[in-house]
Amino acid sequence: MNNRKPIIAGNWKMNKTIAEAVTLVRGIRAGVREIETVETVVCPPFVALPSVAEALSHGKVSVGAQNVFYEESGAYTGEIAASMLEGLVDYCIIGHSERRNIFGESDVWVNKKAKILLAHGITPILCVGESLEQNQAGETDSFVRGQVAAALVGLSAEQVAGLVIAYEPIWAIGTGLTATPAEANRTIGITIRGAIADLYGEATAQAVRIQYGGSAKPDNIADLMTQPDIDGALVGGASLKVDPFVAMVRKTAQVTP
Ligand code: 13P
Repeated sequence: MNNRKPIIAGNWKMNKTIAEAVTLVRGIRAGVREIETVETVVCPPFVALPSVAEALSHGKVSVGAQNVFYEESGAYTGEIAASMLEGLVDYCIIGHSERRNIFGESDVWVNKKAKILLAHGITPILCVGESLEQNQAGETDSFVRGQVAAALVGLSAEQVAGLVIAYEPIWAIGTGLTATPAEANRTIGITIRGAIADLYGEATAQAVRIQYGGSAKPDNIADLMTQPDIDGALVGGASLKVDPFVAMVRKTAQVTP
């Protein structure tokens, strides 16, 4: 038993027009209406955020962005500042493996993004996770520990306790391969909470919510959520339709004491 409220977040990636986004969140809002024990978050593309926030206003579903730039403002063509997201979103994904690998984002950038979000009252959903090669070479523990430590440089224990971290093994994203629930629990509990405990102490490590991500779906969510250290899921493909996403939130509520 712990005090961490489970959090199921949909990362829509580069999917859905504004109109499609509004239709989807109306369905999600209705589907999770009476669920109190699980936090539900949707992370649409930037352009849909105002319409989605309006469609979800005064409800229980929270809104997140998928990225942010780390400067306050200025000549950064194409980028979005934390001040523009403030008041619009509660959460923002940072350090997703697609951003690290396709767009070349470094640990240093991820750390700067965490800091600017916290300065604007937005909770980072910090993604970490190893590649297939690293996993097969037995490097998961050292690599993920390094990502966690680098992302948290300069943050206070209080700030870290309020974060959401998503452990997403890259080889499980969009592939249909899932880390076994026990494997995911081990990396989350021993590697990630262990790294935070070393840096900030056990109380902080026990406070931070850590999700699993990578082919999470209605079929495997209950097995993942019954693991003691897994506090939710960051969901890609299965978050793009009302029924599977709502089913994941509802199944999480069923297995959460
Ligand atoms: P899938 O659920 O499609 O594997 O994506 C996971 C992910 O990358 C969420 O951020």
